[in-house]
Amino acid sequence: MKIIRTVVELREEVRTWRREGCTVGVVPTMGALHGGHLSLVRRGLVETDRVIVTLFVNPKQFNDASDLAAYPRTEESDVEKLKPLGAHVLYAPGAAEMYPSGFQTKVSVSGVSEGLCGAGRAGHFDGVATVVCKLFLQAGADKAFFGEKDFQQLHVVRRMARDLDIPIEVIGCPTVRDADGLALSSRNERLSPAARANATAIPAALHEAAIQLAAGTGIADTLGAATERLKCIPDSRFEYLELRHEDDLSPVNTVARPARLLAAVWLGDVRLIDNVPVAAL
Ligand code: PAJ
Repeated sequence: MKIIRTVVELREEVRTWRREGCTVGVVPTMGALHGGHLSLVRRGLVETDRVIVTLFVNPKQFNDASDLAAYPRTEESDVEKLKPLGAHVLYAPGAAEMYPSGFQTKVSVSGVSEGLCGAGRAGHFDGVATVVCKLFLQAGADKAFFGEKDFQQLHVVRRMARDLDIPIEVIGCPTVRDADGLALSSRNERLSPAARANATAIPAALHEAAIQLAAGTGIADTLGAATERLKCIPDSRFEYLELRHEDDLSPVNTVARPARLLAAVWLGDVRLIDNVPVAAL
C-alpha cells in the first residue's frame, strides 16, 4: 500500500490507474480505524479496481477545540489494518496541504444539514461538505463509500455531489455493530466501562421502537417511550430522537414510506449517535 501526502502525487497515481483502464473508489476517514471503516474498504475493493483510503482529521468540522485535540491519531496502526485488506493507497495529507494559507472557501449544504446533528453542532456539516468536496475533486474517483452510521452526513455528501455535478456515485453501507448491538465508533474507546455497558440501551431503544412503528403503533407514543428510555440511561444527556424519511430526511407524520429513526445521546463527555431503518406500513 502506497502512502501519499500531496494532491499532485495522488492525481498522478490515479492518472496511471486510468491509463490501465481501472475504476477507482475512495473511502474518506479520519483514521482510528475500526471494523466499520474496514467494511467500507472491503466494499470498495469489491466494487472498484483501485481503492484510496483517505485519512485526515479535519479541523473545520470540529466545533469544539478539545474534541479536536482529543481525537485519536493512530496512523501506524491504521496502516497495519489496511495492508492485509489490499487497499491500494492511503492518502494522508497534512493540514497545510488541505488548507494552505489563504484558504477562504466554504461548501455549505442547506436543508439536509439542518436539524438533527446540525442543530447541536454549529458549522459541523459545512466542515464535512468542504473537506469531502475537496477529497472528491482531489481523488477523481468513480465511487465513494460512506457509512449509514452517520446517516445525515451521508445525505449531506450525496446532496453536495449532486448539486455541484461532481461525477461520483455516493454509496451508503450498513452500520457495523459490536456483538451487543452498539454501533462501532472511535468514540466508544473513550467510554468508561460502566458507560460502555449502559450505551447498549441506545441501539436497544431504537430497535424496539422501529419494530413498534413497523407494527403500526402511533409515532408520538413510540417516540415518547423510547425517549424516556434514553433519558433513563445513567450519567447521560439526551440530545434528540427523531423519525425522518429515509430518502430526503424530511419529517415523518405517517410511516407511509421507508423512514429512519435517529438519535444522539451523551454518555458523560462522549457523544454517541445511531440510527435504524423503519419499514413502511
Ligand atoms: P469517520 O468518523 O472516520 O468515519 C469515516 C466513515 O466511516 C464514515 O463514512 C462513517 O459513516 C463510517 N463509519 C463509522 N462508523 C461506522 C460503523 N460502525 N459502521 C459503518 N460505517 C461506519 O465521518 C467521518 O470520518 C468524517 O466526517 C469524514 C467523512 C471523513 C470527513 O472528514
